[in-house]
Amino acid sequence: DCRSVTCQASPNIALIKYWGKRNEELILPDNDSLSITLDTNDMHSYTTVSTSSSMTCDTFYFDGVQQTKLASRMQKVLNEIRRRTKDGKIKFVEIRSHNTFPASSGLASSASAYASLAIALTNLFNLDDAQSTAAYLARIGSGSAVRSIYGGFVRWSSEGECLSSCVFPAEHWSEFRIVILIFNSSKKAVSSTDAMQRTRQTSTLFQARLSTINEKMTQLIEAIKNKDFNAFAKIVMMDSSQFHAVCMDTYPPVIYLNEQSKHLIHLVHAYNQMDGDQTTKVAYTFDAGPNPFCFIRQEHVDEFLRLLKYFYPTVNADADKQVSSDADEKFSSITLPVTPNVLERIVLTKIGSGPKIIS
Ligand code: DP6
Repeated sequence: DCRSVTCQASPNIALIKYWGKRNEELILPDNDSLSITLDTNDMHSYTTVSTSSSMTCDTFYFDGVQQTKLASRMQKVLNEIRRRTKDGKIKFVEIRSHNTFPASSGLASSASAYASLAIALTNLFNLDDAQSTAAYLARIGSGSAVRSIYGGFVRWSSEGECLSSCVFPAEHWSEFRIVILIFNSSKKAVSSTDAMQRTRQTSTLFQARLSTINEKMTQLIEAIKNKDFNAFAKIVMMDSSQFHAVCMDTYPPVIYLNEQSKHLIHLVHAYNQMDGDQTTKVAYTFDAGPNPFCFIRQEHVDEFLRLLKYFYPTVNADADKQVSSDADEKFSSITLPVTPNVLERIVLTKIGSGPKIIS
C-alpha cells in the first residue's frame, strides 16, 4: 500500500525583502514581500514523499543519506499534515530530498526544499485547496518558501491568510535575466531566523523601513507591469540597501555584505552611468549573504559578462563560454575605490514558471 509523490521547486529571490515575523510559530511576516522564482530547469530542489502502513516513524534522506533527526520545522510541517488528514491515522512519511544546485551557491535552498516538500505532501494526502494548503505548509517550514509555490513574480501578503500569489507569470517579462555572482566566501553568516529576531528587538530603523513598504510595493508592481527597467532597478537596489542598513542598525550588528559585495555595488553604478544616457542596464540585490543577484535584460547580458570578465579575470569556464568576445578596453574608463577578489562562479538564468509534480 505504498504511495509516493515527487515534486520539484526552485529558489526565489526577493525584490522587496521579507524581514521580521510578527508570529514566530505560524511565521506571519511584518511586511509584504515580492520575489521572482528562478527557472526550474537550471536549479531546483527535488523531493519525494512516501507513505505506507508499515512505516513506524518519519524518516528523512538528504542526497541519499539518512539523517539521524528531522529538523524541527520539518517535524512541524508533518504534524500539520497529520492534523489536517481526516482519517486521523496518518501514518508516517519518508522524505527524500535533493538539490541540483550546491549549498555554497549563495542561494538559500530552504525555500525550494520546503516548497517542493509542501506540494508533494499536499498531493500525497489529497488535501483540499491544494495551492493554498501547500503555501501554508511551505510557510511554516521557512517563511520565504511560501513564494516558491508559484512561478513568475510572486507576492507574499502580510495580511489576511498571509499566503502568496502570482502577480505576473514568467512570460510577462521574457527578456528578463538573472546573473548570480558567487564570490569566494567561507564565513558563515548569522541565520536569517536569528538575525530578524534581533532586528525586531534592537533596531529603530526597522519601523521606519516598514512604513516604506506599501508605497514601494505599489511602485514596483507598476514598474514590472510596464516593464520599466529603470524604475524597477532603482526600487530593487534601494530595498536591498535599506534591508542591509536595518541589519547594520541591529545590535549586535548583522553584516552580510563584504568588500566584494561593495565592489560590485560600485561597479554596477559606474557601469550604469558609463554611457551617460540614463539607461539602467543592471540592478543588484543581496539576501542574507555577500553574493549579488543581478537583474538585466537579455540585450545587455553579453556586454555585462564582458564587463565582469574585465574586472574579475578569474571567472570560471562556464561563464567564459557565454562571453562572445574578449574583454575590451571600453571599460577602462571606470575606476573604483576597492580592489576585487576572486569571483568563483557565474550562473545565468531566467524567471521560472513554478513547481512541477514529476510523478
Ligand atoms: C533575507 O525565509 O530564510 O532572504 O522564515 O526564518 O525561515 P525564516 O527566514 P527565511 O528569510 C529570508 C530572508 C531574506 C529575504 C527574503 O527572502 O525575502
